[in-house]
Amino acid sequence: MEAGGLDSDGRQFNNAEEMWREEVGDHPKKTEWYHKGVGYWEGVEASVDGVLGGYGHVNEPDIKSSDAFLNTLLDDRFPSGEGNRHLVALDCGAGIGRVAKNLLIRYFNEVHLLEPVSHFLEAAYENLSPDNIIVLDSHKATNFYCVPLLEFSPDDGRYDVIWVQWCIGHLNDDDFVSFLSKQSFQPDIFFVFYFPEAGMDGLKLGGLFVLKENIARTGFVLDKEDRSITRSDLYFKELFDRCGLHIYKSKDQKGFPEELFQVKIYALTPDLRKRVYRTRPKVQTNRPGIIR
Ligand SMILES: C[S@@+](CC[C@H](N)C(=O)[O-])C[C@H]1O[C@@H](n2cnc3c(N)ncnc32)[C@H](O)[C@@H]1O
Repeated sequence: MEAGGLDSDGRQFNNAEEMWREEVGDHPKKTEWYHKGVGYWEGVEASVDGVLGGYGHVNEPDIKSSDAFLNTLLDDRFPSGEGNRHLVALDCGAGIGRVAKNLLIRYFNEVHLLEPVSHFLEAAYENLSPDNIIVLDSHKATNFYCVPLLEFSPDDGRYDVIWVQWCIGHLNDDDFVSFLSKQSFQPDIFFVFYFPEAGMDGLKLGGLFVLKENIARTGFVLDKEDRSITRSDLYFKELFDRCGLHIYKSKDQKGFPEELFQVKIYALTPDLRKRVYRTRPKVQTNRPGIIR
């Protein structure tokens, strides 16, 4: 990223490389960066207000806008009423399960949560217990992983949607690219033939990432307190390119207080084409089949 940026003390950087060299330049510095990032959240109260930095009232417009986005996304990608695809989502940097509880659990049969801060994850477990949610019995939060993004190794091809909201700013560029590339790797037939044991990580075939993040006007803004970076739209697009991901859909968040960063939601796919992943052929063919 060629454009310059600022840190929260007002210090200017000529470009992102300069900033990253300083912040995570060598191994001990990088360890410290991640340690301080998680350490910041360890000191925050496990509440909606806590995970939203004192802006608990944006929960409602946030969920409403994400709901409309996800609804059309799933309709486009996995049209309903066409079979019974068992939809599974992973919520990354899930905090207290705010997004999982208010949104994901209504659409997905299984929701998994990844969150490195244990008291957040304990709150999430409680918030998503069957006594505290009103959803169909077939929709459940099943797995709670207490690890940071970089230490997560899911089963191959597990997720229809990997939701990443307000947490990718904790990763430096190289780790951002390696995390998303690893989770979205979709082998072609030759790869599977030559490396049958390699498989794919994270996303199911046809699965999507959804990234919802603050957006800087230009370049980036580094927050020295929680060790995170807010990137511009252009910066994100450069990183998506490096990951081999394409924007399937995107939308600006509306209705947030003016003093906050702009917020954008991106649906990302490793596929170039806008394919629909049907769970059953639309036209029933008249071939003999196995009766189960
Ligand atoms: C602003 S909160 C957002 C929580 C949740 N996504 C939401 O929207 O309610 C940021 C979250 O990112 C988590 N986080 C920080 N560093 C992380 C890392 N390296 N890997 C995964 N999550 C991380 C924090 O613990 C915190 O729960």
